[in-house]
Amino acid sequence: MNYNIAVIEGDGIGPEVVNAAIEVLNTVGKKYKFSFVFKKVSAGGNAIDRFGTPLPKESVQTCLESNSVLLGAVGGPKWDILPGHLRPEKALLGIRKELELYANLRPARLLPELKDACPLRKEVADAGFDMIVVRELTGGMYFGESGRRDGKYGPEAYDTECYSALEVERIGVTAFELARSRGKKLISIDKANVLESSRLWREVMHRLAGKYPDVELSDMLVDNAAMQLVKNPKQFDVVVTSNIFGDILTDEASQITGSIGLLPSASLGETKRGMYEPIHGSAPDIAGQDKANPIATVLSAAMMLRLSLGQEDAARDVEDAVSRVLAKGLRTADIAAPGDDILPCSTMTKAILNALK
Ligand code: NAD
Ligand code: IPM
Ligand code: MN
Repeated sequence: MNYNIAVIEGDGIGPEVVNAAIEVLNTVGKKYKFSFVFKKVSAGGNAIDRFGTPLPKESVQTCLESNSVLLGAVGGPKWDILPGHLRPEKALLGIRKELELYANLRPARLLPELKDACPLRKEVADAGFDMIVVRELTGGMYFGESGRRDGKYGPEAYDTECYSALEVERIGVTAFELARSRGKKLISIDKANVLESSRLWREVMHRLAGKYPDVELSDMLVDNAAMQLVKNPKQFDVVVTSNIFGDILTDEASQITGSIGLLPSASLGETKRGMYEPIHGSAPDIAGQDKANPIATVLSAAMMLRLSLGQEDAARDVEDAVSRVLAKGLRTADIAAPGDDILPCSTMTKAILNALK
């Protein structure tokens, strides 16, 4: 079996962490007798520099023709002065939309090996947690009407949160199905006490619940959810929420697992083709210094093996290799405790490769 993977290294630490994931995929492929052709695709800040646009048409085409997409991260201070439609982030939003990847799965699990890196109280860390956030990815405020205008008191800017019942329903189905395959508990997070779009969201989720009598659905307001995440993360199993709330809550969820450098994600639509990327950004503060934690991207590659390529054994092998490396006490800077030796990105990657063989 040979898989074609479109690779968007992106900007900042993107190339460093993507390179780690490619090495891991090649190694696990040899072990399980499949191979990859990786096709590098330009998108983000580097595409702006080279082609004057964040997402060249050919890049989208290559993604559409591949089995899946692996992405590092896009963006950085160099491009922050550009207008919205020319920013690197527009590339990411464009691919999500063009490939219709409306469901973003972001698992956040406190690995037993990393309890010491969890910033929560000891008894909360000891209890552990294992949740997955299902974030709606192609709607809401990210894609609503936006603009600038002259207001009563001078210039104004606006971004609109708009969800159709259909958009809510399809992400709801993804979440209910996932809840059915796990602990049969689904928490829908919204702001229905204030937002009309959240009230529609809630109605649709409850209507869907009728079709999933085996799944217990509850609602939680997003401000409370932000608090509950640090108070008692163990209460969450499957969570479903909007694009913007999911973005914010998953950065918070990542930090309680130890670091944002650990959290993978899968973006899926109706086909097998997905995009796999760490939830973190291009980390300009550590870019080019071999300091990044490659684990989030390596675990994203494992999600690709499982969810798009059907290689469950290989996926589990990669995840186990990461756990074994962490169990040995190997740490990049973001998850190191005082006194720990700090490994560069490249050394952590080699350790994972060795654990795989
Ligand atoms: P960021 O996630 O890049 O960095 C936040 C903090 O986390 C920084 O201190 C960084 O050093 C640290 N960090 C992130 N990833 C790490 C890793 N793998 N290992 C160790 N430490 C890590 O968020 P930001 O600083 O708000 O954003 C920087 C740029 O990245 C912005 O241009 C933003 O738009 C972009 N961004 C892109 C994506 C993406 O492409 N998927 C995601 C988020 C942010
Ligand atoms: C993420 C990022 C993106 C988002 C940005 C870079 C557009 O923060 O993937 O979490 O907000 O979706
Ligand atoms: Mn984000």
